[in-house]
This record gives sequence, structure tokens and C-alpha cells, in this order.
Amino acid sequence: MNQPTEVRIVPDRASLAETGAEIFVAAALQAVAARGRFLVALSGGSTPRDLFARLTQPPFVTAVPWTAMHVFWGDERLVPPSSSGSNYFHARRQLLDHVPIPATQVHRVRGELTAVEAVADYTRVLATSAEAGRSWPRFDLALMGLGADGHTASLFPGAPAVVETEAPVKAVTADYEGRPAQRVTLTPPVFNDGRELLFLVAGAEKAAALAAVLGDTDDALSWPAQAIQPRAGKLIWLADVEAAQLLQGTEWV
Ligand code: 6PG
Repeated sequence: MNQPTEVRIVPDRASLAETGAEIFVAAALQAVAARGRFLVALSGGSTPRDLFARLTQPPFVTAVPWTAMHVFWGDERLVPPSSSGSNYFHARRQLLDHVPIPATQVHRVRGELTAVEAVADYTRVLATSAEAGRSWPRFDLALMGLGADGHTASLFPGAPAVVETEAPVKAVTADYEGRPAQRVTLTPPVFNDGRELLFLVAGAEKAAALAAVLGDTDDALSWPAQAIQPRAGKLIWLADVEAAQLLQGTEWV
């Protein structure tokens, strides 16, 4: 049964990173206490970078059970890992290079491969980390971004991947803000198996998309972030005041 959606509005990007770090640590500690490991899918783009950096500082850097953490990505661009267009590149620079996560527990999408090869490889990676009898892991936490067009991960408006019901990983092509177009993305079935999904949204440029996604229209093909509806997990929207400026009412938690 779906848990209620929680929307938390914070003053600015710095408090978005701070609150995101608190949620991250809580999810990590709960996962390790329950299952001995913490499976997290990181989002790409620029918004989570402040959170990544904040996690490398006190008090969070000594609170996260880094050696029990397994890192995945919700999506990746098909560029080499050394490219500034790579989501892995920025997570490595802002977080992974500063904390003791074993290299064998960093499960990146191999963006240097062709789309077909990268999809096959990441599908295999997901299966090897999955609980018995499953094709992909239940992520303890998945960080999610929101594009100004309502996309999340690399699930873009009108794309078949938005309504994919079987395959865990799809290759997509997207033209968004001049960013790398060839991508690999997890699909809604994987995200929606997650125990906790945390959207991080900042900036006035996201306000219209956030209002549409959280509004009354139910149209995931137009607003793909609406496809993220965890089956039994928690869904949290964490937005700064600028991004939340068009949200109606105060019924949100
Ligand atoms: C990507 C991201 C993408 C991102 C949104 C928001 O690979 O580009 O996964 O889904 O989260 O585009 O990006 P910003 O945080 O840079 O606004």
C-alpha cells in the first residue's frame, strides 16, 4: 500500500543539502541495522552535488556506515567516467573520493560502452546485487532529481521508458539543456520497489514542473516524475522555497 507522499519545504539549497544528508544517514543506519547493508541509487545533474559534499563533512561523515554501502545510479550518460558529463564523475569527485566505500561496492553504469552493452552490463550488475529470486535490488534509498520539463532520472516526457513495466534498464536519447543525449536509465518498476525515494528539487526554474507533478493532473507521460510511486516505500519531496513557490495550499507535511 502506498505510503502518503511527504513534501518538505526548506529555505534554500544549503538547507536542502543539510536535510537531505539527515534523511540519507537515517536511511543508511536503518538499512544496515535491518539487513547489514545500505543500497543507494544516486541521482545525477547538479542538485545533489551539495548533498554529496555535505555528507563528507561532520557530523555526517562519521555517521554513515560507508563500508556497508553499495552505490548505484538512477541514470547515467553514455560518456566515459572521466567526462564531466558523467554522473559518476561528479559523485566520485564530490563524495566517493572522500569516504571509505569499497571499490567493489561502487556499481556504476559503464558509460564508455555502447548503449546495448551498457544496458546489458547494468542489468547484470543489478541482478548480482538483488535479493534472492529478484532481478534487481530493493533500493533502501533512491535520490531523484526533477527536470524543468518534469523528467526524472532519464525518464523524459513522451518516452516509452516512462511506461516500461518489465525491463529494469533502458537506453534513451534525450535533448535536455545541452547535456549528453545518449543515456541509460532505471525504469519505474525498479524505482517503485524502493524503500525510500527522495526527490531533491531546487530553484525557481523547477517551480512549474513541481506544481504540475504534485498537482491534480495524473499524466506521467507528460510529467514523468509522476511515474515514481513506490509500491510500499516512502516518497519524500524535498524542495527549496524557490522551487515550491507555485505549490497550492499547506496540506503538505
Ligand atoms: C541527469 C539526471 C537528471 C537530473 C535532472 C535535474 O542525468 O541529468 O539524472 O534526471 O536529476 O535533469 O538536473 P539538475 O539537478 O542539474 O537541475
